[in-house]
Amino acid sequence: MGKRQLMNLLLLGAISLPSAGMLIRYTYFFVPPGSGSSAGGTVAKDAVGNDVVAEQWLKAHGPGDRTLTQGLKGDPTYLVVEKDRTLATYAINAVCTHLGCVVPWNQAENKFICPCHGSQYNDQGRVVRGPAPLSLALAHCDIDEGKVVFVPWVETDFRTGDAPWWA
Ligand code: FES
Repeated sequence: MGKRQLMNLLLLGAISLPSAGMLIRYTYFFVPPGSGSSAGGTVAKDAVGNDVVAEQWLKAHGPGDRTLTQGLKGDPTYLVVEKDRTLATYAINAVCTHLGCVVPWNQAENKFICPCHGSQYNDQGRVVRGPAPLSLALAHCDIDEGKVVFVPWVETDFRTGDAPWWA
């Protein structure tokens, strides 16, 4: 191999390695963070911002539990643990449909009760007492590679039989 060919090869190597690194970073720039799931879902985050891993969550949260996570568009969203210790396939958006307070879960009453003006929602987030005009919004709750993923709910609201007002 001639001296010129050797120098060309060395030059090509020196240029192509950093270029490949830049190209990879450039490509990742266009992938939205937290979209590591199919169907445009958002990985649920716990109170300290970590991804929610379904198996670990179910070890720490028993049947009937409703605990807040960060959901779609950053909205506070309840993960629901069913009586059989599985995660419900729906999650409940905690933003009150009256004036937007975050509605706490009241285990003793088995309801969500808004502290701002007293609206009440049943354990699935269906409004049972005003002034809130509508039920709490829903999201699909899926598990993808072990992590809990929220996907927008655009189908009929199974609690009311109505079209989803939030979609
Ligand atoms: Fe919830 Fe008014 S904001 S009842």
